[in-house]
Amino acid sequence: MTMTERWTPSSWRSKPAKHVPSDYPDMAALGDVERRLREMPPLVFAGEARRLKALLGDVADGKAFLLQGGDCAESFKEFRADNIRDTFRLILQMAVVLTFAGGKPVVKVGRIAGQFAKPRSEPTETIDGVTLPSYRGDNINGQAFELSERTPNPERLMQAYGQSAATLNLLRAFAGGGYADLHNIHRWTLGFVADSPNGARYTELSDKISESLAFMEAIGVNPQTHPDLHRVEFFTSHEALLLGVEEAMTRVDSTSGEWYDTSAHMLWIGERTRQLDGAHIEFMKGIKNPIGVKVGPTMEPDELLRLIDALNPRNEPGRLTLIGRFGSDKIAARLPQLMAATAKGGRSVVWSTDPMHGNTLKAATGYKTRPFDRILSEVKAFIEIARTEGVHPGGVHLEMTGQNVTECLGGARALSETELGDRYHTHCDPRLNADQALELSFLVAEKLKADREAAAPRAAAV
Ligand code: PEP
Ligand code: CO
Repeated sequence: MTMTERWTPSSWRSKPAKHVPSDYPDMAALGDVERRLREMPPLVFAGEARRLKALLGDVADGKAFLLQGGDCAESFKEFRADNIRDTFRLILQMAVVLTFAGGKPVVKVGRIAGQFAKPRSEPTETIDGVTLPSYRGDNINGQAFELSERTPNPERLMQAYGQSAATLNLLRAFAGGGYADLHNIHRWTLGFVADSPNGARYTELSDKISESLAFMEAIGVNPQTHPDLHRVEFFTSHEALLLGVEEAMTRVDSTSGEWYDTSAHMLWIGERTRQLDGAHIEFMKGIKNPIGVKVGPTMEPDELLRLIDALNPRNEPGRLTLIGRFGSDKIAARLPQLMAATAKGGRSVVWSTDPMHGNTLKAATGYKTRPFDRILSEVKAFIEIARTEGVHPGGVHLEMTGQNVTECLGGARALSETELGDRYHTHCDPRLNADQALELSFLVAEKLKADREAAAPRAAAV
């Protein structure tokens, strides 16, 4: 396509599209489902996406922090109200910890209500001499190792739409209906976290906050006079991988006349699909939502600047979040020149860190896992490099769950390799459990605070 050709929600179709399955037994049936999706109500509104973009603009300006997290892949099987609630309240707890230490608002974005499709490193999987297509996420095929399950089925897209709508409905109720009221801060603690060292630390912090709330009540600030105390703003996001679905959910906003992808507030492009001349970049160029791009260890400064200029040609703060995912052993060699390039080039972006995807390994027991220490080490390195380069360490992007799973090694309870099999439930990558995620927020909060103080010594100390 040349520069003069107009962007449309379907213009990606003339570009090479990686990881978009084209092996449905009946491609016409896929087309039918996409047409049905086109008739479905939007999941989010353009005004909400604009609101998130404005908040991310504050992050880009160094005035706020982004917390983005949730499952690696949502699944049909784990779809239950308590799972959604537990992830939601974990994000609230982590946000409280980070706000308290950082003194900055935390923008809360879930990897939820649409995070189903996965890019896979191998298109097929072989077990005992039998080769089948790889599992690619519940909205494409099934996880069980059987031909009927592994064959892509377009009806799964409708089920994923329904699950996303119901998930979002519950999240909206939690966010606006009083559950997220800061006065409930003690009640957010998850049972199995309550008796851990992180639980005790959280109780201490919530006691302090409750004291401040009591003081504010005494001077007349309460949820009746300040309704914002009663609710939180919560946003959804997922990887924009299945462009046919994203296209079907992309609508013209009647207020602005612009195109918005109404499947989520924020969409991101994965490390495997960020080719400059590829279909995913083409699609993302035209939607006005805030977007993200994963940035891995092979990225060079020149390429990054070209990518930024393609996706955010007007250099709008909040439009683009760069999500670094290098690995704790590579970040020091790869990130500094990339941050230097955006800072020197005056590109307004949010710099966030995904300390999960560069730190995956296979345990001797065969489980795919991630050591807590490496995750923490990558986040700490991210914060230090940002300070050296004069960039705001704007956020973290985590794979985590409110459930008491045993998927990542280490943490305060020192989860060991032999324990991985106890509750290993993920449909894709290993997630931090609630205890590990809360611990990480305390450690990140401490690091952010220490770095801020190191960067701006108190007047008395100079
Ligand atoms: C993911 O976020 O689940 C993912 C696949 O990440 P990446 O594109 O960074 O590998
Ligand atoms: Co993942």
